[in-house]
Amino acid sequence: MLPWLLIFSALGLLACGSPTIISRKEWGASSLTCRVPLSLPVDYLITEQLTRMQCHDQTTCSQRLRVLQSHSVYNKGWCDVAFNFLVGDDGNVYEGVGWHVQGLHAQGYNNVSLGIAFFGSKIGSSPSPAAVSAAEDLIFRAIQNGYLSPRYIQPLLLKEETCLIPQHSEMPRKVCPSIIPRSAWEARETHCPQMNLPAKFVIIIHTAGRSCNESVDCLVRVRDTQSFHIDNQDFCDIAYHFLVGQDGEVYEGVGWNIEGSHTYGYNDIAFGIAFMGNFVEKPPNAAALEAAQDLIRCAVAEGYLTPDYLLMGHSDVSNVLSPGQALYDIIKTWPHFKH
Ligand SMILES: *[C@@H]1O[C@H](CO)[C@@H](O)[C@H](O)[C@H]1NC(C)=O
Ligand SMILES: *[C@@H]1O[C@H](CO)[C@@H](O)[C@H](O)[C@H]1NC(C)=O
Repeated sequence: MLPWLLIFSALGLLACGSPTIISRKEWGASSLTCRVPLSLPVDYLITEQLTRMQCHDQTTCSQRLRVLQSHSVYNKGWCDVAFNFLVGDDGNVYEGVGWHVQGLHAQGYNNVSLGIAFFGSKIGSSPSPAAVSAAEDLIFRAIQNGYLSPRYIQPLLLKEETCLIPQHSEMPRKVCPSIIPRSAWEARETHCPQMNLPAKFVIIIHTAGRSCNESVDCLVRVRDTQSFHIDNQDFCDIAYHFLVGQDGEVYEGVGWNIEGSHTYGYNDIAFGIAFMGNFVEKPPNAAALEAAQDLIRCAVAEGYLTPDYLLMGHSDVSNVLSPGQALYDIIKTWPHFKH
Protein backbone atom coordinates (compact mmCIF):
# COMPACT_ATOMS: atom_id res chain seq x y z
CA MET A 1 0.00 0.00 0.00
CA LEU A 2 1.01 3.55 -0.41
CA PRO A 3 3.07 4.58 2.54
CA TRP A 4 1.21 7.74 3.18
CA LEU A 5 -2.21 9.24 3.07
CA LEU A 6 -2.62 12.94 3.27
CA ILE A 7 -5.95 14.59 3.78
CA PHE A 8 -5.95 18.25 4.61
CA SER A 9 -8.83 19.18 6.81
CA ALA A 10 -9.91 22.79 6.79
CA LEU A 11 -10.54 22.46 10.53
CA GLY A 12 -6.98 21.38 11.09
CA LEU A 13 -5.53 24.37 9.34
CA LEU A 14 -4.77 26.52 12.31
CA ALA A 15 -1.24 27.13 11.23
CA CYS A 16 -1.22 30.34 9.31
CA GLY A 17 2.27 30.93 8.16
CA SER A 18 2.62 32.38 4.74
CA PRO A 19 4.13 29.93 2.31
CA THR A 20 7.11 31.01 0.27
CA ILE A 21 5.94 30.88 -3.32
CA ILE A 22 8.67 30.60 -5.92
CA SER A 23 7.30 32.39 -8.95
CA ARG A 24 7.46 31.05 -12.47
CA LYS A 25 10.05 33.63 -13.28
CA GLU A 26 12.17 32.51 -10.33
CA TRP A 27 12.19 28.84 -11.34
CA GLY A 28 12.83 29.72 -14.97
CA ALA A 29 9.51 28.71 -16.52
CA SER A 30 8.84 29.03 -20.21
CA SER A 31 5.99 31.43 -20.83
CA LEU A 32 2.51 30.44 -19.78
CA THR A 33 0.27 29.57 -22.69
CA CYS A 34 -2.61 28.03 -20.72
CA ARG A 35 -5.43 30.50 -20.97
CA VAL A 36 -8.61 28.93 -19.61
CA PRO A 37 -9.53 31.01 -16.57
CA LEU A 38 -10.46 29.34 -13.31
CA SER A 39 -13.56 30.78 -11.62
CA LEU A 40 -12.82 31.29 -7.96
CA PRO A 41 -13.47 30.20 -5.33
CA VAL A 42 -13.32 26.55 -6.25
CA ASP A 43 -14.89 23.79 -4.19
CA TYR A 44 -12.33 21.05 -4.68
CA LEU A 45 -8.73 20.48 -3.77
CA ILE A 46 -6.80 17.77 -5.57
CA THR A 47 -3.41 16.69 -4.29
CA GLU A 48 -1.09 14.21 -5.85
CA GLN A 49 2.42 13.00 -5.61
CA LEU A 50 4.78 12.91 -8.54
CA THR A 51 7.35 10.14 -8.46
CA ARG A 52 11.06 10.48 -9.16
CA MET A 53 10.94 14.21 -8.63
CA GLN A 54 12.31 14.50 -5.11
CA CYS A 55 14.28 17.66 -4.39
CA HIS A 56 15.55 19.28 -1.25
CA ASP A 57 16.67 22.70 -2.40
CA GLN A 58 15.40 25.44 -4.62
CA THR A 59 17.97 24.90 -7.36
CA THR A 60 17.13 21.24 -7.77
CA CYS A 61 13.36 21.71 -7.44
CA SER A 62 13.49 24.48 -10.06
CA GLN A 63 15.47 22.27 -12.38
CA ARG A 64 13.05 19.36 -11.95
CA LEU A 65 10.17 21.68 -12.61
CA ARG A 66 11.70 23.00 -15.83
CA VAL A 67 12.12 19.43 -17.04
CA LEU A 68 8.57 18.60 -15.99
CA GLN A 69 7.30 21.62 -17.87
CA SER A 70 9.21 20.65 -20.98
CA HIS A 71 7.95 17.07 -20.65
CA SER A 72 4.35 18.27 -20.19
CA VAL A 73 4.51 20.50 -23.22
CA TYR A 74 6.58 18.41 -25.61
CA ASN A 75 5.70 14.84 -24.63
CA LYS A 76 2.15 15.31 -23.44
CA GLY A 77 1.15 18.19 -25.66
CA TRP A 78 -0.29 20.18 -22.76
CA CYS A 79 -0.11 23.94 -22.52
CA ASP A 80 2.00 23.81 -19.34
CA VAL A 81 2.61 21.81 -16.16
CA ALA A 82 -0.65 20.27 -15.07
CA PHE A 83 -0.83 21.74 -11.56
CA ASN A 84 -1.74 25.05 -10.02
CA PHE A 85 1.08 24.70 -7.49
CA LEU A 86 3.81 22.23 -6.64
CA VAL A 87 5.45 21.65 -3.27
CA GLY A 88 9.05 20.58 -2.75
CA ASP A 89 10.65 18.84 0.19
CA ASP A 90 12.57 22.07 0.61
CA GLY A 91 9.36 23.56 2.04
CA ASN A 92 8.86 25.92 -0.88
CA VAL A 93 5.74 26.21 -2.97
CA TYR A 94 6.37 26.53 -6.70
CA GLU A 95 3.93 28.36 -8.90
CA GLY A 96 2.50 26.07 -11.57
CA VAL A 97 -0.26 27.68 -13.61
CA GLY A 98 -1.15 29.66 -10.49
CA TRP A 99 -4.49 30.66 -8.96
CA HIS A 100 -6.27 32.03 -11.97
CA VAL A 101 -5.79 29.46 -14.72
CA GLN A 102 -7.22 25.96 -14.95
CA GLY A 103 -4.78 23.09 -14.51
CA LEU A 104 -4.88 19.72 -16.26
CA HIS A 105 -4.45 17.51 -13.25
CA ALA A 106 -7.73 15.68 -12.91
CA GLN A 107 -10.15 15.22 -15.75
CA GLY A 108 -13.59 16.48 -14.82
CA TYR A 109 -12.23 18.58 -11.95
CA ASN A 110 -9.92 21.01 -13.68
CA ASN A 111 -12.48 23.81 -13.81
CA VAL A 112 -13.59 23.40 -10.20
CA SER A 113 -10.41 22.59 -8.30
CA LEU A 114 -6.94 23.65 -7.34
CA GLY A 115 -4.36 20.97 -8.08
CA ILE A 116 -1.33 20.70 -5.82
CA ALA A 117 1.47 18.23 -6.51
CA PHE A 118 4.27 17.09 -4.24
CA PHE A 119 7.66 16.37 -5.72
CA GLY A 120 7.90 12.77 -4.58
CA SER A 121 10.64 10.21 -4.47
CA LYS A 122 10.87 7.23 -6.73
CA ILE A 123 9.14 4.93 -4.29
CA GLY A 124 6.57 7.42 -3.10
CA SER A 125 7.58 8.02 0.49
CA SER A 126 5.77 10.74 2.37
CA PRO A 127 6.62 14.40 1.79
CA SER A 128 8.90 16.09 4.30
CA PRO A 129 7.31 17.86 7.29
CA ALA A 130 8.38 21.13 5.65
CA ALA A 131 6.47 20.20 2.49
CA VAL A 132 3.33 19.23 4.40
CA SER A 133 3.47 22.44 6.36
CA ALA A 134 3.99 24.50 3.19
CA ALA A 135 0.97 22.82 1.61
CA GLU A 136 -1.11 23.61 4.70
CA ASP A 137 -0.03 27.22 4.57
CA LEU A 138 -0.90 27.39 0.89
CA ILE A 139 -4.37 25.95 1.47
CA PHE A 140 -4.87 28.32 4.37
CA ARG A 141 -3.93 31.24 2.18
CA ALA A 142 -6.23 30.01 -0.61
CA ILE A 143 -9.14 30.02 1.79
CA GLN A 144 -8.22 33.41 3.27
CA ASN A 145 -8.00 34.97 -0.17
CA GLY A 146 -11.29 33.50 -1.34
CA TYR A 147 -9.70 31.15 -3.88
CA LEU A 148 -10.86 27.98 -2.18
CA SER A 149 -14.15 27.37 -0.43
CA PRO A 150 -13.68 26.92 3.35
CA ARG A 151 -15.84 23.81 3.03
CA TYR A 152 -13.75 22.42 0.19
CA ILE A 153 -13.79 18.76 -0.68
CA GLN A 154 -10.75 16.66 -1.29
CA PRO A 155 -12.10 13.91 -3.56
CA LEU A 156 -10.54 10.49 -3.60
CA LEU A 157 -9.62 9.96 -7.20
CA LEU A 158 -8.61 6.58 -8.48
CA LYS A 159 -5.66 7.29 -10.64
CA GLU A 160 -2.06 6.41 -10.93
CA GLU A 161 0.17 8.62 -8.88
CA THR A 162 -2.59 10.05 -6.76
CA CYS A 163 -1.57 10.18 -3.16
CA LEU A 164 -4.98 9.92 -1.60
CA ILE A 165 -5.88 6.32 -1.93
CA PRO A 166 -4.38 3.50 0.04
CA GLN A 167 -3.62 0.87 -2.57
CA HIS A 168 -3.02 -2.83 -2.27
CA SER A 169 0.27 -2.93 -4.01
CA GLU A 170 3.20 -0.64 -4.22
CA MET A 171 2.84 2.22 -6.62
CA PRO A 172 2.94 0.73 -10.11
CA ARG A 173 6.45 0.91 -11.37
CA LYS A 174 6.62 3.05 -14.42
CA VAL A 175 8.20 0.91 -17.04
CA CYS A 176 9.58 3.68 -19.17
CA PRO A 177 11.53 6.65 -17.92
CA SER A 178 10.36 9.97 -19.24
CA ILE A 179 12.42 10.79 -22.29
CA ILE A 180 13.31 14.38 -23.08
CA PRO A 181 12.29 14.64 -26.72
CA ARG A 182 14.23 16.03 -29.65
CA SER A 183 11.94 19.04 -29.77
CA ALA A 184 13.06 20.03 -26.25
CA TRP A 185 16.68 20.28 -27.35
CA GLU A 186 15.69 21.85 -30.65
CA ALA A 187 17.00 19.08 -32.85
CA ARG A 188 17.70 19.82 -36.47
CA GLU A 189 15.40 17.88 -38.72
CA THR A 190 16.98 15.04 -40.63
CA HIS A 191 15.94 12.15 -42.87
CA CYS A 192 17.93 9.09 -41.92
CA PRO A 193 17.48 5.35 -42.50
CA GLN A 194 15.18 3.31 -40.28
CA MET A 195 16.22 0.88 -37.55
CA ASN A 196 15.78 -2.80 -38.03
CA LEU A 197 13.37 -3.45 -35.15
CA PRO A 198 13.30 -5.11 -32.77
CA ALA A 199 16.96 -4.44 -32.10
CA LYS A 200 19.14 -7.29 -30.85
CA PHE A 201 21.90 -5.43 -29.04
CA VAL A 202 22.46 -2.55 -26.67
CA ILE A 203 25.82 -0.82 -26.86
CA ILE A 204 26.91 1.36 -23.98
CA ILE A 205 29.00 4.35 -24.97
CA HIS A 206 30.47 7.42 -23.37
CA THR A 207 30.68 10.66 -25.31
CA ALA A 208 34.14 11.38 -23.83
CA GLY A 209 33.10 15.03 -23.79
CA ARG A 210 31.96 17.25 -20.96
CA SER A 211 29.30 15.93 -18.67
CA CYS A 212 26.30 17.86 -17.44
CA ASN A 213 24.40 17.64 -14.21
CA GLU A 214 21.72 20.27 -14.92
CA SER A 215 19.06 19.73 -17.54
CA VAL A 216 19.59 23.19 -18.98
CA ASP A 217 23.22 22.30 -19.67
CA CYS A 218 22.41 18.82 -20.93
CA LEU A 219 19.98 20.21 -23.49
CA VAL A 220 22.72 22.41 -24.90
CA ARG A 221 25.23 19.55 -24.82
CA VAL A 222 22.89 17.29 -26.81
CA ARG A 223 22.20 20.02 -29.36
CA ASP A 224 25.93 20.71 -29.80
CA THR A 225 26.61 17.00 -30.19
CA GLN A 226 24.10 16.77 -33.02
CA SER A 227 25.69 19.73 -34.78
CA PHE A 228 29.16 18.27 -34.35
CA HIS A 229 28.09 14.89 -35.69
CA ILE A 230 26.29 16.34 -38.71
CA ASP A 231 28.68 19.19 -39.57
CA ASN A 232 32.07 17.72 -38.63
CA GLN A 233 31.61 13.95 -38.78
CA ASP A 234 29.25 13.82 -41.74
CA PHE A 235 26.80 11.64 -39.85
CA CYS A 236 23.17 11.73 -40.85
CA ASP A 237 22.14 12.87 -37.36
CA ILE A 238 23.36 12.65 -33.77
CA ALA A 239 25.16 9.30 -33.55
CA TYR A 240 23.34 7.87 -30.54
CA HIS A 241 19.86 6.54 -30.05
CA PHE A 242 19.66 8.01 -26.56
CA LEU A 243 21.89 10.05 -24.29
CA VAL A 244 21.95 10.02 -20.51
CA GLY A 245 22.97 13.02 -18.42
CA GLN A 246 24.33 13.25 -14.89
CA ASP A 247 21.01 14.97 -14.20
CA GLY A 248 19.52 11.47 -14.37
CA GLU A 249 17.52 12.24 -17.48
CA VAL A 250 17.31 10.38 -20.76
CA TYR A 251 17.55 12.51 -23.88
CA GLU A 252 16.22 11.28 -27.18
CA GLY A 253 18.99 11.08 -29.76
CA VAL A 254 17.74 9.59 -33.01
CA GLY A 255 15.21 7.66 -30.92
CA TRP A 256 13.85 4.13 -31.34
CA ASN A 257 13.08 4.13 -35.01
CA ILE A 258 16.11 5.61 -36.75
CA GLU A 259 19.47 3.97 -37.12
CA GLY A 260 22.45 5.42 -35.29
CA SER A 261 26.00 6.17 -36.35
CA HIS A 262 27.80 4.83 -33.30
CA THR A 263 29.27 1.47 -34.25
CA TYR A 264 30.09 0.29 -37.73
CA GLY A 265 28.10 -2.83 -38.55
CA TYR A 266 25.70 -2.40 -35.63
CA ASN A 267 23.94 0.87 -36.28
CA ASP A 268 20.63 -0.60 -37.42
CA ILE A 269 20.49 -3.55 -35.02
CA ALA A 270 21.89 -2.10 -31.78
CA PHE A 271 20.65 0.76 -29.64
CA GLY A 272 23.56 3.01 -28.83
CA ILE A 273 23.07 4.57 -25.39
CA ALA A 274 25.62 7.25 -24.63
CA PHE A 275 26.44 8.57 -21.18
CA MET A 276 27.44 12.20 -21.53
CA GLY A 277 30.88 12.61 -20.04
CA ASN A 278 34.13 10.72 -19.71
CA PHE A 279 33.97 7.60 -17.57
CA VAL A 280 37.45 6.20 -17.82
CA GLU A 281 38.26 6.95 -14.20
CA LYS A 282 34.99 7.64 -12.46
CA PRO A 283 31.68 6.00 -13.29
CA PRO A 284 28.46 7.93 -13.95
CA ASN A 285 26.36 8.73 -10.90
CA ALA A 286 23.58 6.48 -9.64
CA ALA A 287 20.79 8.53 -11.21
CA ALA A 288 22.32 8.22 -14.66
CA LEU A 289 22.99 4.49 -14.29
CA GLU A 290 19.46 3.91 -13.15
CA ALA A 291 18.00 5.95 -16.00
CA ALA A 292 19.91 3.88 -18.55
CA GLN A 293 18.75 0.62 -16.99
CA ASP A 294 15.16 1.86 -16.95
CA LEU A 295 15.51 2.75 -20.61
CA ILE A 296 16.71 -0.75 -21.49
CA ARG A 297 13.86 -2.37 -19.55
CA CYS A 298 11.49 -0.01 -21.30
CA ALA A 299 12.88 -0.96 -24.72
CA VAL A 300 12.06 -4.62 -24.05
CA ALA A 301 8.64 -3.86 -22.56
CA GLU A 302 7.71 -1.75 -25.56
CA GLY A 303 8.96 -4.28 -28.08
CA TYR A 304 11.83 -2.20 -29.47
CA LEU A 305 14.41 -4.64 -28.16
CA THR A 306 14.29 -8.45 -28.24
CA PRO A 307 13.88 -9.99 -24.77
CA ASP A 308 17.07 -12.01 -25.32
CA TYR A 309 19.15 -8.99 -26.34
CA LEU A 310 22.85 -8.77 -25.64
CA LEU A 311 24.45 -5.85 -23.85
CA MET A 312 27.94 -4.78 -24.87
CA GLY A 313 30.42 -2.06 -24.21
CA HIS A 314 31.41 0.13 -27.14
CA SER A 315 34.98 -1.18 -26.80
CA ASP A 316 33.75 -4.76 -27.29
CA VAL A 317 32.83 -4.00 -30.88
CA SER A 318 35.02 -1.08 -31.80
CA ASN A 319 38.59 -0.10 -31.16
CA VAL A 320 37.80 2.69 -28.70
CA LEU A 321 38.16 3.52 -25.02
CA SER A 322 34.43 4.17 -24.77
CA PRO A 323 32.52 3.58 -22.56
CA GLY A 324 35.49 4.08 -20.23
CA GLN A 325 36.83 1.44 -17.84
CA ALA A 326 34.93 2.69 -14.79
CA LEU A 327 31.61 2.48 -16.62
CA TYR A 328 32.58 -0.78 -18.31
CA ASP A 329 33.20 -2.37 -14.91
CA ILE A 330 29.63 -1.53 -13.97
CA ILE A 331 27.82 -2.65 -17.09
CA LYS A 332 29.67 -5.97 -16.89
CA THR A 333 27.38 -6.73 -13.96
CA TRP A 334 24.15 -5.82 -15.75
CA PRO A 335 21.75 -8.43 -17.08
CA HIS A 336 22.35 -9.73 -20.62
CA PHE A 337 25.98 -8.64 -20.64
CA LYS A 338 27.82 -10.48 -23.37
CA HIS A 339 30.80 -12.29 -21.86
C1 LIG B 1 -16.96 22.54 -15.45
O1 LIG B 1 -17.00 21.74 -16.62
C2 LIG B 1 -18.15 20.89 -16.68
C3 LIG B 1 -17.98 19.97 -17.89
O2 LIG B 1 -17.39 20.63 -18.95
C4 LIG B 1 -19.41 21.75 -16.76
O3 LIG B 1 -20.55 20.90 -16.81
C5 LIG B 1 -19.44 22.60 -15.50
O4 LIG B 1 -20.56 23.47 -15.57
C6 LIG B 1 -18.18 23.44 -15.37
N1 LIG B 1 -18.19 24.13 -14.08
C7 LIG B 1 -17.80 25.36 -13.94
C8 LIG B 1 -17.87 25.92 -12.55
O5 LIG B 1 -17.38 26.06 -14.85
C1 LIG C 1 27.60 20.06 -11.31
O1 LIG C 1 28.74 20.31 -12.10
C2 LIG C 1 29.46 21.46 -11.71
C3 LIG C 1 30.54 21.72 -12.73
O2 LIG C 1 31.03 20.56 -13.31
C4 LIG C 1 30.00 21.24 -10.30
O3 LIG C 1 30.71 22.36 -9.88
C5 LIG C 1 28.82 21.01 -9.38
O4 LIG C 1 29.28 20.70 -8.08
C6 LIG C 1 27.97 19.87 -9.87
N1 LIG C 1 26.76 19.79 -9.05
C7 LIG C 1 26.29 18.64 -8.58
C8 LIG C 1 25.02 18.72 -7.80
O5 LIG C 1 26.84 17.59 -8.75
